[in-house]
Amino acid sequence: MSTYTPIPLELRTNRMLLTPEREDDASWLERLFATRDAPPVDRAETLRRIRAMDELVARGIGARVLRPVDGSAALGYVAVVVGRASFDEPELAWELLPEARGQGYATEAAAVLRDAALATGRRRLWATIRPDNRASRRVAEKIGLAVARTSSDERGPVEWWSTSGDDPGFPPADVDR
Ligand SMILES: CC(C)(COP(=O)(O)OP(=O)(O)OC[C@H]1O[C@@H](n2cnc3c(N)ncnc32)[C@H](O)[C@@H]1OP(=O)(O)O)[C@@H](O)C(=O)NCCC(=O)NCCS
Repeated sequence: MSTYTPIPLELRTNRMLLTPEREDDASWLERLFATRDAPPVDRAETLRRIRAMDELVARGIGARVLRPVDGSAALGYVAVVVGRASFDEPELAWELLPEARGQGYATEAAAVLRDAALATGRRRLWATIRPDNRASRRVAEKIGLAVARTSSDERGPVEWWSTSGDDPGFPPADVDR
């Protein structure tokens, strides 16, 4: 099994400090989950998700919350997760509260997290994105990812964007899914 250095708990961008989720993030996370096309998430489930993310942070990856350096409220999160991919070649993810979108925050945070995740010794990162999610595709493009393959699931096509732009030609191992 490969070993990787952990992603630092705290990362910095021009406008934000990126740090792990905490229990007192539950309120805004619940509000964020409510913007998804998914059943509502209650407080117990939100806290369970925060704890699950904590375990991933303990393994060296996981989420970092976008906390503006001016002290204003959290904007959302960026994350390195196993997702549809693998621990060795994990996925980058980004999700912001509606009022925080369209101001370059996701790109700014994702670029720093991309660098930190590659600095762990991993050779490739993925982002899986629905083709109709134009904002997310644009973030991927702006941080230097390129579409390497397309798959599909019950909800339709999924584009696999990768940092290396190439497709290793086999599905990433999903042992840690
Ligand atoms: C995807 C998401 C994180 C982007 O956050 P953001 O902070 O608004 O992103 P940025 O401002 O850094 O960049 C967004 C880019 O997409 C572009 N964009 C936004 N909406 C768009 C649309 N409907 N069509 C085309 N481009 C669009 C913006 O113009 C910007 O590109 P630009 O800098 O070239 O102008 C945010 O929209 C979000 O949270 N969406 C819901 C959750 C989600 O879909 N997550 C990703 C799952 S794969």
